[in-house]
Amino acid sequence: MDRRPALSRLSRRSLLLGFAGAGLYAALPVPMAVAAGDGVVRLKAGPAAIDLMGSAYPKTPVWAYGGQVPGPELRYRQGERLAVTFENGIDQPSTIHWHGLRVPNAMDGVPGLTQAAVEPGETFHYAFDLPDAGTFWYHPHVKSSEQIGRGLYGPLIVEEAEPPVVDRDVTWVLDDWRVGEDARIDESFHQMHDMSHGGRLGNLASLNGASSEQFAVRAGERLRIRLINAANARSFALSFASHAPQVIALDGQPVIPFAPAGGRVVLGSGQRADLIIDMTGNPGDKFAVTDDYYARSPYRFLSLEYAAQAPLREQLLDGPIALKKNPIAVPDYQVAASAPVVISGGAMGGLRQASFRGQEMSIRDLVGLGKVWAINGIVADPSNPEPLLTYKAGTTARLTFKNQTAWPHPIHLHGHVFQILARNGIKAEREIWSDTVMLDAEEEVEVIFVADNPGDWLLHCHILEHHEAGMATSLRVG
Ligand code: C2O
Ligand code: CU
Repeated sequence: MDRRPALSRLSRRSLLLGFAGAGLYAALPVPMAVAAGDGVVRLKAGPAAIDLMGSAYPKTPVWAYGGQVPGPELRYRQGERLAVTFENGIDQPSTIHWHGLRVPNAMDGVPGLTQAAVEPGETFHYAFDLPDAGTFWYHPHVKSSEQIGRGLYGPLIVEEAEPPVVDRDVTWVLDDWRVGEDARIDESFHQMHDMSHGGRLGNLASLNGASSEQFAVRAGERLRIRLINAANARSFALSFASHAPQVIALDGQPVIPFAPAGGRVVLGSGQRADLIIDMTGNPGDKFAVTDDYYARSPYRFLSLEYAAQAPLREQLLDGPIALKKNPIAVPDYQVAASAPVVISGGAMGGLRQASFRGQEMSIRDLVGLGKVWAINGIVADPSNPEPLLTYKAGTTARLTFKNQTAWPHPIHLHGHVFQILARNGIKAEREIWSDTVMLDAEEEVEVIFVADNPGDWLLHCHILEHHEAGMATSLRVG
């Protein structure tokens, strides 16, 4: 236990600079999924090897959808129907969860709660309508720490009927990896140290499955960048040097466009942001995109490299960038009582005891079982927690998450999106709808939503090691 990662700091520079011949290489787009004649996409999870660290290194053995990391981009128009046949080619049971999508419960991919796990060699057919446009993603919901940590995830884009006019719409899937100098993934998943602290943090950041050094742009172009944080635990806070990103959606849900404070775009595990960025630099310019979420270890995520070509246009595009709202039910804001959802435990947390599988246990005994977190005093079975609250379908739910721990937690709800009403009692300054909300240490966040999707829905920390170590519960809508 407590084994340190092979390389102790997240810095692809220090990693690559240690080796002769490591060249700069450029970010590639995520290839799209191809549907068969019947419109069904076949998505197979299986072992693969990817060029994570560049040509100076051996390939990295991973688990991947369709042999690539990220898995193929699934792209639909709003209102269309998704149809995917998942085939499990890894040697563990698995499923697919459609993160952020309001799907029928039986399609949600949580084994034990919404479906049986898909055994190795078996298939499962997922099909559902797509009511919301936005940037979403898919990943397994079985041993997520290991399965997502080995590369099983992919983007799912639902296009608006009238998207804002841009020159390029690009998807950036962010991740971090715990790898050795042999380019192999550190296989010590499920470590107590990771579970009780900040989760499994890696030592190599990646963009679209590679530790790319550059992203090529052209002066004068307008980009829509769809950021997806697929890391097990790491949060990112990206800044784009002198460029001024406008956030147009968070977790796939439109917001009134705004410039984030200090130009920093912050994403916890599982979260997404859609940005509009104008390339205001000059031909030949280079700018660093930096990540300084962890103040003590900022690093250059990659550089924006301007082509030498003349600017694409003289005047930047200035068409409208606001997106139309998705058809989400309006809550009854008069609902007075907010149900407390109290998160406790973890390192430096002072949790003494909690209930697990109906038994009151000491923290010592819980740690022995790999459990260190509780919600309202209950340590969850990761995928089959008892419902914490029950709602009649169509009623408004109001929850106050109280983070009584020393760690931030991105809390994710399945099957619904909620509006963030207040942080530490201070009313939110803008209307934000999300499926995942970042709670800072000791922070309280109040959310509201209409519980209108029938079924049992998981509510858990998206730091996958926290989820596994007990930080989950469920809400029943029926
Ligand atoms: Cu991204 Cu419960 O999942
Ligand atoms: Cu957490």
